[in-house]
Amino acid sequence: MSKNAIMLTPGPTPLPPSVSHAMAKPILHHRTKEFGELFDFTLREMQYVYRTKSTVLMMTCSGTGSMESAVVNLLSPGDKALVHTTGAFGDRFVKILKTYGLFPIIVAEEWGHAADPKKLAKALKENKDVRVVFFQHTDTSTGIVNDLKTLADEVRKHSAAIIVVDSISGLAAEPLEMDAWGLDVVLTGSQKGLMNAPGLAFAAVSERTWKLVETASLPRFYYDWRTMLKSVKDKETPYTPGVTLVMGQAEALRLIRQEGIENVWKRTAELAKYTRAWAARVDLPLFAADPANILTALKLPEGLDGQALIQEILREESISIAGGQLHLKGKIIRIAHMGFISKSDLDAGFAALEKRLARVKA
Ligand SMILES: Cc1ncc(COP(=O)(O)O)c(C=O)c1O
Repeated sequence: MSKNAIMLTPGPTPLPPSVSHAMAKPILHHRTKEFGELFDFTLREMQYVYRTKSTVLMMTCSGTGSMESAVVNLLSPGDKALVHTTGAFGDRFVKILKTYGLFPIIVAEEWGHAADPKKLAKALKENKDVRVVFFQHTDTSTGIVNDLKTLADEVRKHSAAIIVVDSISGLAAEPLEMDAWGLDVVLTGSQKGLMNAPGLAFAAVSERTWKLVETASLPRFYYDWRTMLKSVKDKETPYTPGVTLVMGQAEALRLIRQEGIENVWKRTAELAKYTRAWAARVDLPLFAADPANILTALKLPEGLDGQALIQEILREESISIAGGQLHLKGKIIRIAHMGFISKSDLDAGFAALEKRLARVKA
């Protein structure tokens, strides 16, 4: 791929040059004061992005690892868990829970729709003893955003369940107020709004959640949050962390702080609006009924093979655009506008698409 490649994919997203430069510096040993300071800075700045005073843990893995870590640290065999799924990533929580022998209550939405608080309330009223409820902040497979504040209020009305949110694609792009909305665990990954390369994941864990972490009895070793917590106090990780990725993350967090998190949310929302105005002009309807700002999922005209379209654009113009997942493969495209993606990146993507859409119409 040429050095001018443009990424409009919802993770990995492009890296700011200073983040790439930070990762090109000589590597540090992880048991040094210098790394400890960088690690500590990263966790503190993550609290700023999460809008929380809760402890933030870091794992060297992709976002899915943090999802698995939430399951094994919060649940015991026979526990009741509820997943309110809005697409492929809610379904992933279900798969992880089943892998550990748990059979969650599933509240499912039609793809493209956000979680309905009324459906959630009904399921919680029927299942008073649910221990953990799982949501996505944004479901990247469909481009929806959930109203987490309302959903969290609904959980609190009906149960004492711990609220776990996958904000792997939402954090540092879409508004999120962990403490003000009463979220207990918020998970994320480095490769999207956090403007870093893939390979780090984070979990912010509220005070009341730690009681459950102590008593949960599913098997855990690498993902044991208790071991991570002990090390955090010494500005260390239990095992060798992705040192280079932490160097990149610290720089990306410095950029986010410089811009201000509200401005990051605002910029992402403006790019979403810009993309939707273009889509309306070229007659491509939105897929999501409850669209997020992180990406725009667009329905393609009948007979146009979306997979062939994005492969051609990648091959001929070095622009990466995401297609649909599972049953939406070939039917939709997903244009991301999170992280370091700029208006000029989007313009290049729009031009590449328009050229080919005109060919279909002709
Ligand atoms: C909402 C959401 N959850 C989970 C994941 C899984 O993260 P990873 O691919 O980093 O394991 C993704 C990745 O696209 C995502 O967008």
